[in-house]
Amino acid sequence: MTEAKTTKRRRRRPDTAAAGRARLRRVVDAAMELERLAMLLYCKFESRFGAVEELRAFWFEMAQHESRHFGALALVAGLLDRSWKPGFQTVTLLAPARVQHLRRLLRRFHAEADKELSIDRAFAMAVQLEGSEIEDVVLDLLHALRGESEHERAIRALMHDLGDLGYMIEKHSADPELLARADRLLERQVGRLRSRPLKARRVGRRPRK
Ligand SMILES: [Fe+2]
Ligand SMILES: [Fe+2]
Repeated sequence: MTEAKTTKRRRRRPDTAAAGRARLRRVVDAAMELERLAMLLYCKFESRFGAVEELRAFWFEMAQHESRHFGALALVAGLLDRSWKPGFQTVTLLAPARVQHLRRLLRRFHAEADKELSIDRAFAMAVQLEGSEIEDVVLDLLHALRGESEHERAIRALMHDLGDLGYMIEKHSADPELLARADRLLERQVGRLRSRPLKARRVGRRPRK
């Protein structure tokens, strides 16, 4: 091999840590934008359905949880700037095409939410969002960067949201398919939690009022 070719190959080889950190930072930034859009959508629902106090409080809580995800990702971004571990590379990555798809989806939801909107449609959007990879990416990032206890806390918070979502659908919607979808999402997270070596596993939907 000529010297020129060797030099070219050496130049092309990426700095693993820097490249990995930059790639992960792009994922975090994209996830933050998606979380922010999800939070703003739930804020719209909070005012749209504000006449029923129970629904207003529910959508407010959903928005609040998205704001916490946004904050957790901001913390992750701060940590990434200071430290890098090879294990971070195993974090599930949101492919750019998927990010674009989710961004378009959220913008479409926002456009819908700016017009007349039924509560069933709002629930359907929430089920679709909560089942998207956005939440999975947040959970994976927290696991890689903040450890098992933070990860478990985030899964439990998501399960709480899904339990409440199912409860609200059951109470305010007549669509059995929506409820079944919300239940399947909750079961998926319960399975995720059970696959971890945890001691306490008290899970489930909020008690009926
Ligand atoms: Fe979220
Ligand atoms: Fe969420």
